[in-house]
Amino acid sequence: MSTTLETPSPVTAAEPVAAPALPPLHLGRHTIDTPVVLAPMAGITNAPFRALCREHGAGVFVSEMVTSRALVERSSESLRLVQHEPGASPRSVQLYGVDPATVGAAVTLLVSEGLADHVDLNFGCPVAKVTRRGGGAALPWKTSLFAAVVRAAVRAADAASDADGVPVTVKMRTGVDPEHLTYLDAGRAAQDEGAAAVALHGRTAAQYYAGQADWSAIAALKEAVTSVPVLGNGDIFSADDALAMVAATGCDGVVVGRGCLGRPWLFADLAAAFSGSDARVRPGLDVVAQTLSRHAHLLVEHHGDETKGCRDIRKHVAWYLKGYAVGGGLRAALGLVESLAQLDDLLGRLDLDEPYPGEGAEGSRGRTSSTPRVHLPAGWLDDREPPAPGTEAGAMLARAELSISGG
Ligand SMILES: Cc1cc2nc3c(=O)[nH]c(=O)nc-3n(C[C@H](O)[C@H](O)[C@H](O)COP(=O)(O)O)c2cc1C
Repeated sequence: MSTTLETPSPVTAAEPVAAPALPPLHLGRHTIDTPVVLAPMAGITNAPFRALCREHGAGVFVSEMVTSRALVERSSESLRLVQHEPGASPRSVQLYGVDPATVGAAVTLLVSEGLADHVDLNFGCPVAKVTRRGGGAALPWKTSLFAAVVRAAVRAADAASDADGVPVTVKMRTGVDPEHLTYLDAGRAAQDEGAAAVALHGRTAAQYYAGQADWSAIAALKEAVTSVPVLGNGDIFSADDALAMVAATGCDGVVVGRGCLGRPWLFADLAAAFSGSDARVRPGLDVVAQTLSRHAHLLVEHHGDETKGCRDIRKHVAWYLKGYAVGGGLRAALGLVESLAQLDDLLGRLDLDEPYPGEGAEGSRGRTSSTPRVHLPAGWLDDREPPAPGTEAGAMLARAELSISGG
């Protein structure tokens, strides 16, 4: 099969219809005509994947999360994470941090060195190694610390950028668990501290990725936060889901994560839907195979190492092939691919005439059911003040900026 690095032309259907579903999204100085954001996903939304998604659609495409401290220390991995695909605009980087000074320093570095035109702050990470130190989704519980981190980021962005500024946005979950919801306080605080938008994943940390996202929380946040855009996130697996979320919540834009795994063309569907068209991409297996190959080539180029690039593409194989009639042996071999030549040889053995399989290729994908216990520093939920430096929880928090990844 062809290993061309051009984007394959997808199969589309239907005609443009009505008026745009939403007006453009304003993120500080950026006007985003299609109010759609590719959710930051650690291990997924690197420059190659963002490039693929951007080629299909439009919107904001956010990097994998980078730890503020690692960035300030200029670790080679964090500098690789903040690379952007050529021509990307805006260049959006997600930062994770718990210490206002370190987050501020990381934003200064990103903006003064021209590495980002938009910074997103991660307050939604539910993974144990993050929350057990008070970071991620645990942090908004400590109201003054949350406000201080957002304030530090906004001030640093303002100080380091030209007059147009670099917007800082906040991404969060609804809370730690149903008894400890944080999103309304956090949303208002973020707005007051100068965040340019707030995005809400409608799950608590305790829910992880299980069950359904609570879109009514997004509607409630939209009521509470009135001066900056509110973006809704959670369980958008199709363009129609995105329109349904907008209708149900009144949100100003949508953030899409797992729905585009193995389907960068979902961004074409989203662009169509938000411009009032019901055209949808329904790729046959030939287009899927070409896109998978192209993704792998881009990863190899990005990593500068064929083995690393091929190991990286393995996790995407099952998502790309979801719903298509591909035998177990071939799937397994693709999931263990070691070289581009081997990948293209295996892809060439697919039945490239297979048409779009319909529903089987749609619906949920990626993380779904597991709900591990939320780990928090001892006594974290007892009050909403940040832990004092001399305490055990304070020491934990100080260690919370060690290199981590996840969402
Ligand atoms: C593999 C994976 C990695 C993620 N990494 C991050 C991350 O680094 N930062 C973040 O804010 N959220 C992260 N998330 C959460 C997503 O951004 C998003 O909020 C979540 O998947 C819900 O949206 P969805 O239902 O559209 O997938 C991650 C999710 C997945 C599945």
